[in-house]
Amino acid sequence: MPAPRPEAANDTLSPFPEGWYFLASREAIEKAGLIEKTWMGEEIVIWCDEDGRVCVAESVCPHLGSALGPSAGGRICEGRVVCPFHGFEFDTSGQCVATPFAPPPRSARLRVFETYEVAGLIFAWWGIEGRPSQWSLPDDATDQEGWSDLRIQTLRFPGHPQETTENSVDIAHLRYVHGYDNVDRTHPIEVDGPLFVSRWDFRSVRKIAGIVRLTLDLSAHTRIFGFGYSLVEVREHSIPMDMRLWILATPVDGRLIDMSLVSQVRVEPRTRRFIAGAGFLPHRLRAQVVNRFLSPMQKMDVLQDVVIWRRKQYRSRPRLNRADGEITMFRDYCAQFYPDAAGVANRLPEPDRAVRQADAGLRVPESPAVEDAPVVVE
Ligand code: FES
Ligand SMILES: [Fe+2]
Repeated sequence: MPAPRPEAANDTLSPFPEGWYFLASREAIEKAGLIEKTWMGEEIVIWCDEDGRVCVAESVCPHLGSALGPSAGGRICEGRVVCPFHGFEFDTSGQCVATPFAPPPRSARLRVFETYEVAGLIFAWWGIEGRPSQWSLPDDATDQEGWSDLRIQTLRFPGHPQETTENSVDIAHLRYVHGYDNVDRTHPIEVDGPLFVSRWDFRSVRKIAGIVRLTLDLSAHTRIFGFGYSLVEVREHSIPMDMRLWILATPVDGRLIDMSLVSQVRVEPRTRRFIAGAGFLPHRLRAQVVNRFLSPMQKMDVLQDVVIWRRKQYRSRPRLNRADGEITMFRDYCAQFYPDAAGVANRLPEPDRAVRQADAGLRVPESPAVEDAPVVVE
C-alpha cells in the first residue's frame, strides 16, 4: 500500500495580498494630526489637510531620506507634513510645495497610496507591484440615523488576513470555539469578483456578571471585500436591535496583523425587553450604552480565535469533512488577491516597471544612464 503523501513542507501565504486595508478613523487622524505606522512592511505617515483630504504616504523624505513621522520630529503645518531634517513641506497630493531656503524641487514628491473612506474609516489600497486599485469598497453605513457612534478596538497578533477572514465561512468553529447554538446557513454563498457574501442564523447565550443569562437570537449578513474589509450586519430578533461589526485585518510587517473591531448599534425605539437596565435612557444614548456593553463581548469572541490564529499553520490542502462549510469555495475566491507579481509587472508602463521591480526586490538590469546621472538640484 503506498505511503500517504506528506503535507507540503512550506505551506505559506504571501504576507501582503492585494486589497484595501484599514488604517485609522478620520476622527483619530484629525485628533492626532500626524500618525505614523508600519503597514505592509513599510513605514507610512497619515494626515489630513484643512479641507479634509487625507493623505497616506511613505515615510521617507525624497530630499535626503529622513523619516517623516512624529517620532522623528515630523509635524503638520497648515495641512502639510514638514520634514524634520531640512523643513521640506508636502501637501496631501504628496508634492513638495515649499522649503525654507529655496524653491521646492519639482521632482520632490512622496509616494502616496490611494485612500477610500467608509463611515469615517480610512482605508488605503495595496496593489501588487504598486498597481492602482482594481475595485472599490462599498459605501456602507451611509444611514446613521439612530445608530450609536463607532467603537474601535484594535488587537495585534501574529497572523494572516486570509486566515482570519476564513473564519466567516468556517461554520464548525462557530459552534466549537464560540459555543453558538443553532448555527444555520440561510442563503447560499454568493461570490461576485471581490465580494463574498454569507448569511446565517445562530443563537448565542451570554452570562452577564456571571449570573444573568442573556439569550440572543441573531441573523448575520456578512459581506467580505478582500481580506481587509468584512462587514457583519446582525439583526437581534428578541430585543430587537441591529448591529454593524466591521472586522478589519491589516498586515503590519509580514508576521503581525492589526485587527480592528469596529462596532455600531441601533436599538428599536420600542424594545421588548430591557437591556442591562438601559431601557430608561433616550433612544440614541441607549444605543451608545448597548454598544459599549456589547463590544467587550465581541472582543472576547475574537480573542477566542486569536488563541488559534497566532499558533496555526496555513494548510493549502486541508483535510475537510462535511461539517466544514464552504472553505474550498472561499479558497478559490482568495486566489484573485494574489495576482502573479511577474505578470502584473509586465503589464505596467515601461518607466514604472523598473522602479516597481526594484521596489519589490526583483532583479532589474542596471541602467548606466541612471547610475551615472548626477544628483539633481532644481
Ligand atoms: S531630508 Fe527631508 S527635508 Fe531634507
Ligand atoms: Fe471566530
